[in-house]
Amino acid sequence: MTKKNKIDLDVFLIPKSGIDKTIKAFQSEMGKGLKGKDSSLKMIPTYVSRPTGNEKGDFIALDLGGTNFRILQLELKGQGRIGASKIMKFALKKKHITGSADVFFGFIADCVKSFLKENRTGSNRRTALGFTFSFPVKQKSVSSGSLVCWTKGFKVRGVIGNDVVELLRHALLKKGVTNVDVSALANDTVGTLVARSYSDRNCDIGVIIGTGTNACYPECIKNIVKLPGHAKGSGEMIINIEWGNFNKLGLTSYDIALDKASDNPGKQILEKMVSGMYLGRLAGLVLKERLKIKGEFKSEYMSVIEGDNTKNLARTEAILKKTGMTSPGMDDKKFTKNVCRIVSRRAARLSAACIAAIIKKMDLDLSRKHTVAIDGSVYEKHRTFKVDIIACLKDAFGRKSSRIKIVLAKDGSGKGAAIIAAVAAG
Ligand code: BGC
Repeated sequence: MTKKNKIDLDVFLIPKSGIDKTIKAFQSEMGKGLKGKDSSLKMIPTYVSRPTGNEKGDFIALDLGGTNFRILQLELKGQGRIGASKIMKFALKKKHITGSADVFFGFIADCVKSFLKENRTGSNRRTALGFTFSFPVKQKSVSSGSLVCWTKGFKVRGVIGNDVVELLRHALLKKGVTNVDVSALANDTVGTLVARSYSDRNCDIGVIIGTGTNACYPECIKNIVKLPGHAKGSGEMIINIEWGNFNKLGLTSYDIALDKASDNPGKQILEKMVSGMYLGRLAGLVLKERLKIKGEFKSEYMSVIEGDNTKNLARTEAILKKTGMTSPGMDDKKFTKNVCRIVSRRAARLSAACIAAIIKKMDLDLSRKHTVAIDGSVYEKHRTFKVDIIACLKDAFGRKSSRIKIVLAKDGSGKGAAIIAAVAAG
C-alpha cells in the first residue's frame, strides 16, 4: 500500500478571532475606499438609491455577468408588485469573451434585436432598458460608467476605460435597434438589492456568490467623501463594494498557488476563496496532493460530494472516477468529502464576516432588522452555505443575529435593473 501524504486541513479553519479580525479589516478598507484612499475595496458610488416600491411601467433589462446572459421584459405594477415577465437566455462563446468590443457588443445587440422581434411585435413604443453589467465599473451617473478591469475570465479588448453604456448604445444603433433607451447601468449586486427592496423595506444588502462574488449596500451620502460636489446631498446612495477584490486575508499555500496560476495574480483575492470560478480549483489543489486525480475538479462537484449521504459515498466515487482515479478507496472518498466541506465552509464564513462588517457599519448595535438578499449558483446549490453563514453571524452578533434575515433572491439582478431604469426615469 502506498503511503498517503498527510495534509493539514486545519489551515482552512477560521476561528472566531479570525472572523473578528476580518470584520475589522473589511471595515477599515470600506472607510478608506469611501474616502478615495488606496484600498482593496473600490466602494463604487452607483448614483441610485433604493426604490419606493411605487415605480410603475414596462421595462426591458439586459442582465450580463457571466457566459450566460438574459434579456427580460417586465411590468412594474407599483406597491412592490411585479407583473408577468418575458425572458430569453443567450450564451456567449469563447470568441465573444476573448475577442474585440465590436464582436462582443455586436452579438449582444443582435440578441436584443431578436428578443424585441420575438416579444414586442407591432410595438414601436420606446422602452427604457436597464443594463446589468456585473464587472467593476466606475460609474459617472446612473446611466454611464467605464470598465475598470475584467474579472471572471472575460478578456474582451477595447472595453477597459471605456463607457460600457455608450458601447452598447452604439452597437444597438448599428444593428438598427432604435426603440430602446439604455437608461440605467447596474451591477448585479445592486440589481439584487433593488429587486428585493422593491417589496421588502428591511433589505439593505445585496450579495452575489456565483461565478464571481460581490456585495452592495446603501450608504449615507454624507459619508461618501469622494463623491464629486455635484452629486452631494442628503439621503442614501447604493455603494457597489466590489468585495471580490478584498485582500486583507490569511492565505494558505493553496490560495497562493491558485492566485499565482490565475489570469489576474494579486487581484480578486476574496473572489478566489469564495466564488464558483475558483472553489473547485482550490479543492482540486488540495486533493491532488494526496489523490491521483487528473484534470479539472469542478466547483459544481463540491455540492454533490458534500451532500453525498449514500452508504459507500457512491456519488463521490463516481466523481473521483470522472477525474481519473480508477478505484478510490473509502479513505479517499472520505478525504474528498472533508476537503469539499472545509473549503466551502471557509468560503461561507468569509462571506458572513464581510456581511457582518457591512451590517456593523450601517447599524453598530444591530438595533434594526436587516434582510440580506443573496443570489448566485454557489449560494443556491450548496445547501450548507446558508447554514454556515447563519452560524457565523451568530458568532459575530450573538442572539441579536436573529434580526438578520438571509433570503435567496433568485434572478433579482435583471429585475433590479428594470426597477433602476424606472427610478432613473423618475
Ligand atoms: C465582479 C462584480 C460582480 C461579481 C458577481 C465580480 O467578478 O467584479 O462586479 O458583482 O463578480 O457577479
